[in-house]
Amino acid sequence: MGEVDPSFIQAIEHRPKIISGLEAGGIPLIDLSPLLSSDSLEGYSKDHPQAILDLVEEIKAACKDWGFFQIINHGVPYDALRRLQTAAKEFFDLPLEEKRKVRRDEENPLGYYDTEHTKNVRDWKEVLDFVVVDPNMIPLSPEPDDQRMRVMNNKWPEYPSDLRDACEEYCRAVEKLSFKLLEVISLSLGLPAKRLNGFFKDQTSFIRLNHYPPCPTPHLALGVGRHKDAGALTVLATDDVGGLEVKRKTDGEWIRVKTIPESYIINVGDIIQVWSNDRYESVEHRVVVNSERERFSIPFVLNPSHYQMIKPLEELVDEEKEPARYKEYNLGKFISARKFSNFKKLIVENVQI
Ligand code: SIN
Ligand code: FE2
Repeated sequence: MGEVDPSFIQAIEHRPKIISGLEAGGIPLIDLSPLLSSDSLEGYSKDHPQAILDLVEEIKAACKDWGFFQIINHGVPYDALRRLQTAAKEFFDLPLEEKRKVRRDEENPLGYYDTEHTKNVRDWKEVLDFVVVDPNMIPLSPEPDDQRMRVMNNKWPEYPSDLRDACEEYCRAVEKLSFKLLEVISLSLGLPAKRLNGFFKDQTSFIRLNHYPPCPTPHLALGVGRHKDAGALTVLATDDVGGLEVKRKTDGEWIRVKTIPESYIINVGDIIQVWSNDRYESVEHRVVVNSERERFSIPFVLNPSHYQMIKPLEELVDEEKEPARYKEYNLGKFISARKFSNFKKLIVENVQI
């Protein structure tokens, strides 16, 4: 990737400011240690320990004001992450022909790729995707003759041989954390802890291994262009090379997220925005690259089944005061359509999806 290919070049208004790590700003930092001793928050009431009541309020404020927060003392064993990070690095170090043996294709959206475009500009990254549950086939729609019916099968590379086990071990740990966070988010919306769990019966959650190679022109390109996450919740692990930027809701400024060892970065996605009827919004973010160091990150995206119907939760809708802002939609069809359109426009304007 020596001389930068024009497909990577961002329009002037979307080019990043080059800042030093020290200038990185803050999204809310939340200590999850009050949750470590509780398996579930079912039966939550005002009689719970004050630390848990405070935590629910903290997460509520972070979801409302930022759509993003960073967590420490989350209970995910660091060894599981380190093992996966090591395997991911070994995979990305392989020659391109080897990586392309597990490339994604027309039939199957999972696997390796290095030509992703966000908003029509190529991202400076390469990626390997896996779904958490690996059934033989995950239908995007329950209708058998739907044109969009596709299969999703994990393609495990031959090397490194540890990748599959590392990925499965890490998924189990991070999935547990995601469901805990989902409980707190549900409580923060004034709902029972397990109110959202039923949507994840045939979940299509996935894990993405991202590699951002050093870029000779970091002021022109982005690792990932500005976007919002389509899933319910994203739990992101990064290494110590910064680059993630979040669009601050108050003034639209891009805020660089600090790297904090062993922390995770959490953000609510489009689905929580819809369920919460806009109480919480899915916020734009992007990744800035640099010319010196490669960067690795691993997002875990908690996703319901693709044939799930998504709409604002009835408890959060009031015909008079809080009318539903979204019409019900089929998640699989929406995800296919979303690639080509703007999320809010798509639903608000009632485009057939
Ligand atoms: C993403 O939002 O797609 C990736 C985030 C990151 O690599 O920090
Ligand atoms: Fe993202």
